[in-house]
Amino acid sequence: MSELFLTNAKVVTHRGVFDGGVLIRDGKIEEVLKGDFKPVKGEVKDLKGKYLLPGAIDVHVHFRTPGQTEKEDFVTGSKAALAGGVTTVLDMPNTKPLIVDQASLDAKKREVVGRSLVNYGLYVGATLDNLEEIKKVHGACGLKIYMGSSTGNLLVDKKEVLEKFLSEYQGLMVVHAEDEECIEEGKIVHADEISRASGTKGDAKVHSLVRAPRCAEIAVKNLLHLAKKYGARVHIAHCSTMAELEVIKKFKDEKVSVEVTPHHLFLTDKDYEMYGNLIKVNPPIRGLTDQVALWQGIKEGLIDMVATDHAPHLYEEKMRPYAEAPSGLPGVQTMMPLLLNAVNEGKLSISKVVELTSYNPARCFGIKDRGAIENGYYADLTVVDMDLARNVEREFLFSKCGWSPFADWKLKGWPVMTLVNGEIMYEWRDKFGERAGFEVEYT
Ligand code: DOR
Ligand code: ZN
Repeated sequence: MSELFLTNAKVVTHRGVFDGGVLIRDGKIEEVLKGDFKPVKGEVKDLKGKYLLPGAIDVHVHFRTPGQTEKEDFVTGSKAALAGGVTTVLDMPNTKPLIVDQASLDAKKREVVGRSLVNYGLYVGATLDNLEEIKKVHGACGLKIYMGSSTGNLLVDKKEVLEKFLSEYQGLMVVHAEDEECIEEGKIVHADEISRASGTKGDAKVHSLVRAPRCAEIAVKNLLHLAKKYGARVHIAHCSTMAELEVIKKFKDEKVSVEVTPHHLFLTDKDYEMYGNLIKVNPPIRGLTDQVALWQGIKEGLIDMVATDHAPHLYEEKMRPYAEAPSGLPGVQTMMPLLLNAVNEGKLSISKVVELTSYNPARCFGIKDRGAIENGYYADLTVVDMDLARNVEREFLFSKCGWSPFADWKLKGWPVMTLVNGEIMYEWRDKFGERAGFEVEYT
């Protein structure tokens, strides 16, 4: 029986902050302790007034296993997660091969088990012809549906097929809502700019024109009409526009959850000049008005969570001309520092960060016994130093892709220790444990 006391912390829950600590026994939170307390036995770590948060749960990552492990794998991806205070990831199915049935899901599980340093769940993906197979699949964290094309070949661009999924699939559907027809139109309208786009950074801006806000709006509208009609449980991935939020406002109930990414919260289309294809991503980076609307959506509770859509690609690939550069950017290591810095800037409270990054993800995805600091929950915990101000340093980026658009950003508020299942798995700034994370269970 192993025991560890974390003392002298500011414990943060989605409701508030209190002085105290936790007693961890055999990987779980045995007891949440308030105020000053004197541990009688076991190992003690004095957190010296630092903040203790539930580990973040990132419901949207692409760790590229199987098939594209030159970009990322579960070891490098989970190290980046740990350094970013993330203790659980849900991994997407647009891999090579695609995860679209029980056999490919089971094969992926065999490949991941024992490798991930954080806890994990795995998605399956919808295709035009796998509904019957998908209905029988067990052991996935959810079903990913791409209404618009992106990296990989997963696409459900036929309305009848989408409708069939929404009417017949009983589980949680996580949807990339961009309308494929609208994207195709955008490509035609902007064909000249696309073909003229060279390696010049500012040229990448055409991406935001091709995949215009209305493509997301159309898709979300279609999706939520169908979801309502059939009472389906849907999660909208990477909401990025004011127009989507207006639709969501009309339909929002306990069956609709919404995620936003750090890149849509912290970057705008002005940033193409600086970063070019590095911030080419689907859905694209938007203008300031949309960004402001997303922050408002957080404030109003319309947005349930922040998830990274961590989608690493190699730097060389990103340096190709616009049309050939892949979409996606890494984010699992920088989400918490960006949000904590925003707390220091007065943009949101630290309790709200906990709600957005652990409490709501666990609740919305039915992740068992994680996402809160409560007796009996797994000791997935992140210790945060809110006074630490550091640049995002390239040499401490642990994703295999090795770059981040947020490199060199000066941020105040950093995870300095991360515990997974009661084990100290990360300590500032590059000290990692070795124990593998668990596949999560669902309620
Ligand atoms: O930009 C993106 N990249 N959007 C996606 O939907 C997929 C992702 C990837 O896997 O690279
Ligand atoms: Zn994604």
